[in-house]
Amino acid sequence: MLDGKKTLFSGMQATGNLTLGNYLGALKNWVKIADDYQTFYSVVDMHSITVRQDPAELRKRARNLLTLYIAAGLDPEKNCIYYQSHVSGHAELAWILNCFTYMGELNRMTQFKDKAAKHADNINAGLFTYPVLMAADILLFQADVVPVGIDQMQHLELTRDLAVRFNNVYGDVFTVPEPYIGKSGAKIMSLQDPMKKMSKSDENPNGSIYLMDDPDTIIRKCKRAVTDSVACVRYSDEQPGIKNLIDIYCACTGKTPAEVEAEFDGKGYGDFKMGVGEAIVSVLKPLQDNYADLSKNKDYIDKVIKENAEKAAYFSNKTLRKVQKKVGFPERIR
Ligand code: TYM
Repeated sequence: MLDGKKTLFSGMQATGNLTLGNYLGALKNWVKIADDYQTFYSVVDMHSITVRQDPAELRKRARNLLTLYIAAGLDPEKNCIYYQSHVSGHAELAWILNCFTYMGELNRMTQFKDKAAKHADNINAGLFTYPVLMAADILLFQADVVPVGIDQMQHLELTRDLAVRFNNVYGDVFTVPEPYIGKSGAKIMSLQDPMKKMSKSDENPNGSIYLMDDPDTIIRKCKRAVTDSVACVRYSDEQPGIKNLIDIYCACTGKTPAEVEAEFDGKGYGDFKMGVGEAIVSVLKPLQDNYADLSKNKDYIDKVIKENAEKAAYFSNKTLRKVQKKVGFPERIR
């Protein structure tokens, strides 16, 4: 509890082009619930180097992502928006938590298995212990709530297990965090393969809507979305392509699946896809416009980067010092 409010932590990787899945599954909810919490939103650049990155490109993407957080509606005066690599507590706590995590637990992580298969030439130890760094991110700020998409649930479960394990040995040190999963949009699927998650790393660009796609591209990708021959807009597991489009439409408009079924009752897939495309454009266009304006304001973004890193370091140090003392590190002499 900070300043009488519960604490929220979340983060996003600055790798690849952000997709509509990142926005509807995470960023949109961050903005929605931000006022109710003391918030920390990190650009998790340390996570990004578990996969090889071009340094200049990573730096650029990290800055773009930080700017995008603000463009989406997070006021940096009220929300602590910062780079993970600027706060050394993340790495320090991760090391300690590594010593409380079992190999078997990390071996079970599906994201590790997927990424190891994709990057078979670079299965590094960082990729393996990635979930421990994520746990450190969250526990460092004593977060009560962590808004994420469904794909991060397994990592969050591990975070909770580590918090409980540590508390059982040393007393009440960590807050055990709860996930926050939005009502709609928590798992947006590829437009080309509705059995697969929409992902930044998809080789087929038509499978994903990118946050910076222009309106024509968005409409074209929606029109091309894989559906079925049932010819009925119905929210059903037997129609995964249509179900995914309904999810997207709901997340963009705030409507329920039943309302969407009623709205498009008797209409063809062409009309429905057009409606989905327009709903996406109306959500992304303001975001893109804000982003374009903010990107021009270099001094302002620099100021946010500096001030918020200091704020994040201040809060994170409180937990870190406590944990270091608990595990038996010698006290600093001032
Ligand atoms: P990342 O960068 O892959 O994704 C950022 C957020 O977007 C959500 N997301 C989706 N939601 C719905 N549908 C999709 N298709 C979709 N794709 C991505 C993710 O669930 C996530 O919330 N490990 C994390 C980053 C991280 C983090 C943390 C998150 C590091 N430390 C601490 C929360 C708390 C990741 O790689 O997310």
